[in-house]
Amino acid sequence: MSKYLVTGGAGYVGSVVAAHLLEAGHRVTVLDDLSTGFAEAVPDGAEFVRGRIQDAAEVLDASFDGVLHFAASSQVGESVVDPEKYWRNNVAGSLELVSAMRKAGVRKLVFSSTAAVYGEPDEVPIKETARTSPTNAYGATKLAVDHLITSEAIAHGLAAVSLRYFNVAGAYGRYGERHEPESHLIPLVFQAALGQRPHIAVFGEDYPTPDGTCIRDYIHIADLAAAHLLALDAAESGEHLICNLGNGTGFSVREVIESVKRVTGREIPVQVAGRRPGDPAVLVAAADRAREALGWTPKHPELDRIVADAWEFTLAHRA
Ligand SMILES: NC(=O)c1ccc[n+]([C@@H]2O[C@H](COP(=O)([O-])OP(=O)(O)OC[C@H]3O[C@@H](n4cnc5c(N)ncnc54)[C@H](O)[C@@H]3O)[C@@H](O)[C@H]2O)c1
Repeated sequence: MSKYLVTGGAGYVGSVVAAHLLEAGHRVTVLDDLSTGFAEAVPDGAEFVRGRIQDAAEVLDASFDGVLHFAASSQVGESVVDPEKYWRNNVAGSLELVSAMRKAGVRKLVFSSTAAVYGEPDEVPIKETARTSPTNAYGATKLAVDHLITSEAIAHGLAAVSLRYFNVAGAYGRYGERHEPESHLIPLVFQAALGQRPHIAVFGEDYPTPDGTCIRDYIHIADLAAAHLLALDAAESGEHLICNLGNGTGFSVREVIESVKRVTGREIPVQVAGRRPGDPAVLVAAADRAREALGWTPKHPELDRIVADAWEFTLAHRA
């Protein structure tokens, strides 16, 4: 049994990983300022500290075996209009956290990085060795934190793993996605299915893909969570392992809408709009490194399963 600090454990991904850690018999303390998270999402059995990562020194001590760091601002559009918020919260905040870890002697870190660090890829599937060229401040701040972690591993022997998520989706029991504003495709299609928005906009039907719509790599939140527990085992002192987390296959916007129709049995009004600038045709992970270095195998790669679990959560939690 180990004891972990989970920053952002009142958010979507952090709450699911915290639940998995507890189920595996570990002790969990959640540090979250509830800026975008929900107190009721903190799993039963976790200690909850309402506070900021900038003040992590007040929470961390040598009794912790490691930190899983999810807390961040993560709205791409907002990061473009308010970049300082992102540099302050994601980069300066992570710097305070890493510094507090070193001072407390906590020497293991798993960090939520993102496919947004790659920007528009030169080739797909995207490998971890691909050029990093983020197209927004969100991706830039996550890349900066990856660099911070690498230098901390080299200088001070931190054992670190960055997991670069592609499109996280689905739900795990009572834990699911509640972003405000919502920007992820599956919950937005649900809103159209429920009549909470007049239609789902499809941005571009003239991409060089089989049905003309963009293709993205969707990973079930439970598979993503499992990778975090494996990352804790794989982390080695003085090394910073970086792994993409995706299924290595993609689904088009049209395929997602068809899946939602099948799962919900509802009609989905669709409106085709023009392409959005900076939207690459295909973003799919090369997922070999996570499989080899972590021994990770996704259990739920089927789109209908991902959508069905997310739908069940949405029906249980809709206002
Ligand atoms: N959801 C995705 O598809 C996705 C994809 C790639 C990467 N990520 C990354 O995964 C992580 C979790 O994403 P999510 O979707 O669960 O987001 P979320 O907004 O649901 O969760 C983030 C949590 O962090 C908390 N938080 C933010 N700033 C904080 C601070 N300074 N101190 C303490 N708590 C703070 C929020 O209150 C929230 O509970 C983020 O780092 C995000 O960048 C998510």
